[in-house]
Amino acid sequence: MTQSRFADIGACVFDAYGTLFDLHSAAAKHRAELGDKADQLSALWRTKQLEYTWLRSLMGAYADFWQVTGESLDYALAALGLERPGLKDRLMSAYLALGVYPEVPAMLKALKAAGMRCAILSNGEPAMLQAAVRNAGIEALLDGIFSVDSLGIYKPHGSVYRLAVDRLSLPARRISFQSANAWDAAGAAHFGFRVAWINRFGQQAERLPATPDAELSSLAELPALLGIG
Ligand code: LAC
Repeated sequence: MTQSRFADIGACVFDAYGTLFDLHSAAAKHRAELGDKADQLSALWRTKQLEYTWLRSLMGAYADFWQVTGESLDYALAALGLERPGLKDRLMSAYLALGVYPEVPAMLKALKAAGMRCAILSNGEPAMLQAAVRNAGIEALLDGIFSVDSLGIYKPHGSVYRLAVDRLSLPARRISFQSANAWDAAGAAHFGFRVAWINRFGQQAERLPATPDAELSSLAELPALLGIG
């Protein structure tokens, strides 16, 4: 039943942070310096980063994701009493070289081998996304990196998902969208994509007005969902 929702897919579009790239790897890299507050810092940094994207979108006060990531880090470091010289810069540098989830390169190769177009659709500012993609060594496996920066508004605004439709020249129902962020999966489903929620963290389903078509525990399961391999 689920699989039929993914028949006739012409392109796969991936969220970046949390889906392809392990955003918690930035704080993990500096665990020695952050001590037992490393996980708390990483979680608060992410929560504030997302809140600021939503708030700035509602306020009509867009600033790019690099700025928002820095401002949310300032908040989290201050809230946890971790303001130390150079620490912000070290964490921001780590954000440009995040770890890639281990199954990602092989999964993208399998999709490409089957002739599937693959792209990223992210809140990320273009240079940040380029850096993460280059660091992960997956540049050659992607047909596009689409950033909200050209629109000046963040996910889950419909115009963001529309960007992938326009750039790929495919109707929404022929695009399979993957996100580990449940709220992003809901936004993409509401827009009309076929959506696989990558529930890496065993989270609760969102109570929002659209639900993903499939729930996977990792991206390794995606090719089979699409009838590939
Ligand atoms: C992104 C955020 C939502 O990459 O993780 O768009």
